[in-house]
Amino acid sequence: MRQNIVAGNWKMNKTLQEGVELAKELQNALQAKAPNCRVIIGTPFIHLSEVCKTVDQELIGVAAQNCADHESGAYTGEVSPEMVKSTGASYVILGHSERRAYYHEDNAILKTKVDLALKNGLTPIFCIGEVLEEREANKHFEVVKSQIEEALFHLSADDFKKIILAYEPVWAIGTGKTASPDQAQEIHAFIRKTLAEKYGQNVADEISILYGGSCKPSNAKELFANPDVDGGLIGGASLKADDFMGIIAAF
Ligand code: PGA
Repeated sequence: MRQNIVAGNWKMNKTLQEGVELAKELQNALQAKAPNCRVIIGTPFIHLSEVCKTVDQELIGVAAQNCADHESGAYTGEVSPEMVKSTGASYVILGHSERRAYYHEDNAILKTKVDLALKNGLTPIFCIGEVLEEREANKHFEVVKSQIEEALFHLSADDFKKIILAYEPVWAIGTGKTASPDQAQEIHAFIRKTLAEKYGQNVADEISILYGGSCKPSNAKELFANPDVDGGLIGGASLKADDFMGIIAAF
């Protein structure tokens, strides 16, 4: 059966030293109190190698927040999936709405990134979600469906089973506005139904679908209590060990 997961997304925060310090704090806290879910932290590229040496990855998985859509070569400033893997990291966040909005990553680019990540043995944490106008126009179902179809539905069932999905309504990210537990369950169930139509119920039941967007210790429990919400992708509240541990304790 699918895993419950709490994944942190540090975004562009923390110097190397601060990041290693936070990773140490989490390692100590989770060693003292074992989590009832998989814990992952998504750090900036430059932190990956040190953080991988700092944590026991059985306890805390390490993720990059992006990777290149090319294998190697003349792409100044880019980091390939193979390079990410060589740091010791096992996961990569792909398709985050900030990458889609600010760096123009569309579903076609993301499809290539997913393929390269899988080819290099990284588990993609693939983000989908609608913007406010789409939600208000009641288009959120078709938006997430096309994001999944265009970037992921070319995968074989065996490869699809390696994906972690994160539903993140853009209007809830960093805004303090959270989807209600009912809104989250409604669209997570829709996402799982979409997966079942393509890959069958057994595959759909194995995929972890995380919720992201202003998730914090005070609302994590009621969000995660929904049958189709298998954990969270946490931005702001993953930057302090106490807050992140409070969310992990929701399981
Ligand atoms: P937030 O970010 O928890 O700060 O809203 C979530 C995310 O962007 O992954």
